[in-house]
Amino acid sequence: MSDEMILTSVTDRVALITLNRPKALNALNDQLMNELGAALLKFDADDQISCMVITGSEKAFAAGADIGGMANFSFNDVYQGDYITKNWETIRRIRKPVIAAVSGFALGGGCELAMMCDFIIAADNAKFGQPEIKLGILPGAGGTQRLPKAVSKSKAMDMCLTARMMDAQEAERAGLVSRVVPAERLMEEAMGAAKTIAEMSLPIVMMVKESINASYESSLSEGIRFERRMFHAAFATEDQKEGMKAFLEKRPAKFKHQ
Ligand code: HXC
Repeated sequence: MSDEMILTSVTDRVALITLNRPKALNALNDQLMNELGAALLKFDADDQISCMVITGSEKAFAAGADIGGMANFSFNDVYQGDYITKNWETIRRIRKPVIAAVSGFALGGGCELAMMCDFIIAADNAKFGQPEIKLGILPGAGGTQRLPKAVSKSKAMDMCLTARMMDAQEAERAGLVSRVVPAERLMEEAMGAAKTIAEMSLPIVMMVKESINASYESSLSEGIRFERRMFHAAFATEDQKEGMKAFLEKRPAKFKHQ
């Protein structure tokens, strides 16, 4: 399927979404964010999909929100009209895993979009940054909130206040990305990880995502309680019976995603 600003394809229960404004370094405008949100919701509702991958071009995952599109906005436009941020929250509603495969620049809203994904696999040429301060604004889609959780307060302050970029190696050391691979192997690695996830039981995959996200947003004791309920719920699935039976019979499990 081809939309104007994103491309999508499906293989082995994995949906690949490619941001497709390469000449503007995938600057994230309203149309692109609407198309991205619609594609994510569609794949989330599709029984045949278990995992999604978002990527950009070799030069840029996304160089941020579209600066031309917001340069003349007034306070009323952005506050009352909610013009820039309203369609950025869709990804938080997605219950299946979403992997960001980042090559090149992930700046401003591009870095924030990558951080909204469940994990980031980076090419060795990736560069992450929150340079909004140079434009006289600050991050507006979670940069000041998710970045300190991912890389420490000190590095987040450094990046958001000085606008310096973090390369892939530093991003891996700091915990922002889960893996770094040579640029030419990025898609193979990201699609391979997605395929591995897609072979697991989908309801359990969704419970893992929900439980890890609970750790992000609650105290340890609330998080542990939530995880325990999810753990108990896993025993209501057919896939738990199959997974354990397959282990005992020394064969690979064949999950039915129920
Ligand atoms: C609009 C952009 C853009 C952006 C790049 N382009 N980033 N257009 N919005 N964020 C366009 C350029 O204008 C140019 O178009 C083309 O992409 C290629 O970019 P160049 O600058 O010529 O490339 P290069 O010299 O390689 O520099 C790459 C770069 C630089 C370092 C990434 O483009 C850059 O600094 N971009 C802005 C990064 C940024 O400030 N992001 C934060 C945005 S604010 P033409 O037509 O001239 O070829 C933000 C707020 C989020 O994200 C709020 C969330 C709700």
